[in-house]
Amino acid sequence: MKICSIGAGYVGGPTMVVIAEQCPEIQVRVTDINQQRIDAWNSDQLPVYEPGLAETVKKLRGRNLSFTTDIDTAIQESDVIFLSVNTPTKQYGEGAGKASDLKYIVSAVERIAALATSDKIIVEKSTLPVCTANKLRAILASNPHQCHFEILSNPEFMAEGTAMQDLRHPDRILIGGEQTESGKQAIQTLVDVYAHWVPREKIITQNLWSSELSKLSANAFLAQRISSINALSALCECSGADVDEISRAIGADSRIGAKFLKSSVGFGGSCFKKDLLNLIYLCESFGLKESALYWQQVVDMNEHQKHRFARLILEKLFNTLSGKKIAIFGFAFKQDTNDTRESPAITVCQDLLKEQAFLSIYDPRVPETVIRTDLAGYPSDAIEVVSDPEQAARGSYAIVILTEGEPFISLNYKHLYTLMKRPTFLFDGRNGLDLDQIRSFGFNAYGIGKKR
Ligand code: NAD
Ligand code: UGA
Repeated sequence: MKICSIGAGYVGGPTMVVIAEQCPEIQVRVTDINQQRIDAWNSDQLPVYEPGLAETVKKLRGRNLSFTTDIDTAIQESDVIFLSVNTPTKQYGEGAGKASDLKYIVSAVERIAALATSDKIIVEKSTLPVCTANKLRAILASNPHQCHFEILSNPEFMAEGTAMQDLRHPDRILIGGEQTESGKQAIQTLVDVYAHWVPREKIITQNLWSSELSKLSANAFLAQRISSINALSALCECSGADVDEISRAIGADSRIGAKFLKSSVGFGGSCFKKDLLNLIYLCESFGLKESALYWQQVVDMNEHQKHRFARLILEKLFNTLSGKKIAIFGFAFKQDTNDTRESPAITVCQDLLKEQAFLSIYDPRVPETVIRTDLAGYPSDAIEVVSDPEQAARGSYAIVILTEGEPFISLNYKHLYTLMKRPTFLFDGRNGLDLDQIRSFGFNAYGIGKKR
């Protein structure tokens, strides 16, 4: 069997790598229109940072795994084609700011329709609005060779930073398809691929529309938990309750569960906000105003939380940041990734720059060019990007931690304190540092959901 992915990004790359790893007899090709990205996949500097990814790519490249911009040959030779292109929020025309922009998926499917000379299974790996398969089917009907295409929905649930672990040991694999004879056969073909390494009871098969909508629903539920705990964090800060203790207490209830209850400066990443907005747009399109408003509140609470944190910094630094140096630790949207898409750090930094602060940003995973692009539109001499936390801390009034976990948690804050201006502040947006210990070094320390 030969399979390929159209799209070699955060999803197309790692998912295909794991299929190639687990199914040595399957030839796997990862394709993209972006030459630079494909060149990077073929080099030692992969375009995506994920623990365990580089070693696996190195082992499999040239065996049953390849990366190429020759999309046309991949389409013609593959039995199964995964669509893993980006589906960002549409920025123009009808549905601007909410709907998914399907132009990339449409262009990939038009290419398949034009080139395919044999029957194929087309797999929706990208996250798509419910009923997209109908549109894809209409496009594929224009194939001049009248090939038969079976469309499956197989959304991806991996999270960045833990992609390899999630892909090798998924909670579940979801496959949606048509309940016709050929549809069931196509479902079985994909089930057989995953059954190489995923226990059969974890492979859920269902109808196409449920599968498409399940993906949006899963992300909406996860995001909603974060907004719920963040809504409580503000109340904790006023009342003296501790948000981590609340999470522990409610998460111990097996009906609620302990995961995704960590209060933060807000969720980031390329998908939660985009998928919520898409869900809201779908509800509105079907006239379901109350459902749309319900999910809108999850987005609004997240925006509020980011600005609320920036306002706290302003307030504690005596309502003036003009000319003050502030050290920013962490710019990626979460731990163990180089991805800054929708990172809460961007909003917080923008708010601080509006107050004319000088930002010294330290995040060893994120290249300076990316940080500067994300903060474009603000004076470039108000920002420095450093590779040493001491350089960021030296002469600053405050340290602001905006990405959780390593490498920020293990820094020597006692020493960093000695380099800073007095009075010295530390604002912990998502790290879960021991604030009492941090205070014992001399810092005025504030954390999300912690007593002020
Ligand atoms: P990405 O932007 O990293 O990668 C998409 C790739 O598709 C890009 O390299 C782009 O050049 C390529 N592309 C676009 N149009 C193309 C075309 N016509 N032909 C060939 N290549 C084309 O995006 P991503 O983060 O990998 O996300 C892809 C999809 O997966 C989205 O729908 C997203 O919602 C979903 N998803 C993402 C994650 C995640 O963790 N990033 C997790 C689950 C699902
Ligand atoms: C998320 C989902 O977890 C994946 O299942 C899904 O496949 C993916 O979106 C997608 O569709 O793209 P991801 O965005 O990579 O994955 O990362 P998460 O671990 O979900 O974190 C998202 C954001 O929420 C991060 O900014 C994180 O710091 C924040 N978060 C997470 C919290 O603030 N609190 C928590 O308790 C958990």
